[in-house]
Amino acid sequence: MQQTQTIQVLDKAFAVSVTAAEIEKEVKRVAKEISRDYAGSQPVFLAVLNGSFIFAADLLRHVDLPCEISFVKLASYQGTNTTGNIREVIGLNIDITGRPVIIVEDIVDTGLTMAHMLETLKGHNPASIDICTLLLKPSKLQVKLDVRYCCKEIPDDFVVGYGLDYDGFGRNMKDIYTII
Ligand code: IMP
Repeated sequence: MQQTQTIQVLDKAFAVSVTAAEIEKEVKRVAKEISRDYAGSQPVFLAVLNGSFIFAADLLRHVDLPCEISFVKLASYQGTNTTGNIREVIGLNIDITGRPVIIVEDIVDTGLTMAHMLETLKGHNPASIDICTLLLKPSKLQVKLDVRYCCKEIPDDFVVGYGLDYDGFGRNMKDIYTII
């Protein structure tokens, strides 16, 4: 019988939930879909740091299109409006006006991050915007969000590995692990 591989990250224990082999298969599938859907155009990939750095690197190597990539970050600061926390997109050093944009995200949980990002990017008048995420927790979505590309849907549990962190740690692990 195969033993479940468990690991410790800081004070929490995790078990493998998506193996590196499965991730690779799904990343290749999504890259193929993007290459097919965007044939004849030159999209700009916007990878959201920090979590998407490994996913973006693997995905891009399987995308068969002339394309560009830029890395953006979401900075949080306390705003004066009633919603409190405002998130600003920083590091967008590429002109996306009139360009097809594909956001590369590590995980969509409540969807609030992506909703904010879409709103901000629309202000730059891109030709189109699609979301490409490694993981999606459908049961946690709080907003209506059109996620066109998704490698894997997962249950509502905390995960680490393959770029995703727990308090800054665990990003370097090849598999994805779920908290136990
Ligand atoms: P959302 O705005 O709730 O969709 O949250 C998205 C962000 O929360 C992701 O980009 C991650 O940084 C973080 N996040 C959500 N769930 C997890 C998880 O299970 N592990 C690690 N980070 C997560």
